[in-house]
Amino acid sequence: MNPLIYNIGHQNTEYRTPRPRVLLKRVGCYQDPASVEEYLGLGGFAGLHRVTEMEKTQALDEIDIAMLRGRGGAAYPAGRKWKHLFGMKAEPKYIVCNGDEGEPGTFKDRLLLEEDPFSVLEGMLIAAYIFGAESAYIFIRGEYRRAQELFRRAVKSAEEAGYAGETILGIPGFSCRVYVVSGAGAYVCGENSALLNTIEGRTGRPRVKPPHLAEFGLYLKPTLVNNVESFACVPAILTMGGRAFLELGTEDGGGTKLVCLSGHAKNRGVFEAPLGTPMREVLYGSHYGGGTATGRPIQFCHFGGQSGPIGFPEQLDGLFSYQDLWDEGLAMGTGAVVVMDDSVDLVEYVRQVVAFFVHESCGKCTPCRVGTMRMLECLDGGSVERLEEIIEHVTNLSACGLGQTAGCAVGCALKYRREQFERRALNGVSGIDFHRS
Ligand SMILES: Cc1cc2nc3c(=O)[nH]c(=O)nc-3n(C[C@H](O)[C@H](O)[C@H](O)COP(=O)(O)O)c2cc1C
Ligand code: SF4
Repeated sequence: MNPLIYNIGHQNTEYRTPRPRVLLKRVGCYQDPASVEEYLGLGGFAGLHRVTEMEKTQALDEIDIAMLRGRGGAAYPAGRKWKHLFGMKAEPKYIVCNGDEGEPGTFKDRLLLEEDPFSVLEGMLIAAYIFGAESAYIFIRGEYRRAQELFRRAVKSAEEAGYAGETILGIPGFSCRVYVVSGAGAYVCGENSALLNTIEGRTGRPRVKPPHLAEFGLYLKPTLVNNVESFACVPAILTMGGRAFLELGTEDGGGTKLVCLSGHAKNRGVFEAPLGTPMREVLYGSHYGGGTATGRPIQFCHFGGQSGPIGFPEQLDGLFSYQDLWDEGLAMGTGAVVVMDDSVDLVEYVRQVVAFFVHESCGKCTPCRVGTMRMLECLDGGSVERLEEIIEHVTNLSACGLGQTAGCAVGCALKYRREQFERRALNGVSGIDFHRS
């Protein structure tokens, strides 16, 4: 089959996918992605209609069977999260869509928000119906101006057509206002509790957990937080059925996954891959990454953004699935895959990753605030043993996911390419001096 090429005019970037099965099927088909008429003409809102014809518990079962894992990075099963929230008695309940997309190398939520915003909105409205939520929020990162503008127009268009706002689909008691909010761009604001603080107008710092957000979330009420891509999967699950969605992927994670290929990949952009596609196909297949643009061998791939693990060629023979990646000590994360060829200095690369975390640490807890700086100092001339010790402390003692994953990439590099670090330690410094530059 010939690949479909989606050209996003304003970015002058091509997005290709050989099998647009679920998430990208409407991308590139709109004159105006914020027009509800066009969405309806492309089969939109079938999932919302479907959910209103079902028992709510049956809808939750479908999402559970689909084995939809959260696409924001943590891979937590959506079915489990939704059922837990459904069991909460307190009211009101809130729906929050996480469109912060702060993870470097990740740009798939932007594609959905700009090219098929209704698929995300429909997922949020399905959740609103199931949980009886009358307010839903979508947090779209400050830099994504176009996405914010489009989404606002999409909400307005849906309201005018009776698909959002008061008495949706004419069903008494089914009303939900959708609010588009934004922040100033700190990476930590994508962490779900920091995100809620931001929406409330507080400082965007993570809360201490437990209690979980399903119990005490937005305004301390039960709250569902899911990623943009996770919400976009929900209408598809309800229209095709949970089992069919599961079967698109693997037992441990159903459906397709948006992959963001960048770095030295020959074909860079957003691709849709069924979970379980061979990893080598994703990296080298002509419909996906196509190897490297330089023709040089792949030295390593960085998965899931800066917080994710680094994989070396000997770890990349399995499947692009949650379990296969975990089996290799890797992780799917957001679906970002930064491909780096053998011209890259691995030690300098991970040093830049650590510098990112030093910069982005919110400073609330000591292991992360001080520990990330100590990691960087070690990379600038400390011993490998000391570096390992600090990584362990920062990983195990930090209060939120930022600190807990700050040492992930450097830890992987140390595990598989220790000799490169030892060589540097003997020589004293790693290269560019971060503090002086
Ligand atoms: C530092 C940090 C940043 C995060 N940034 C994002 C983000 O930009 N987008 C996102 O969806 N999830 C992000 N997450 C994960 C969220 O906390 C949360 O797990 C996610 O929104 C839940 O949705 P999901 O289950 O659909 O993935 C981040 C987590 C941490 C620790
Ligand atoms: S781990 Fe880092 S980002 Fe998270 S609360 Fe502590 S200091 Fe803030």
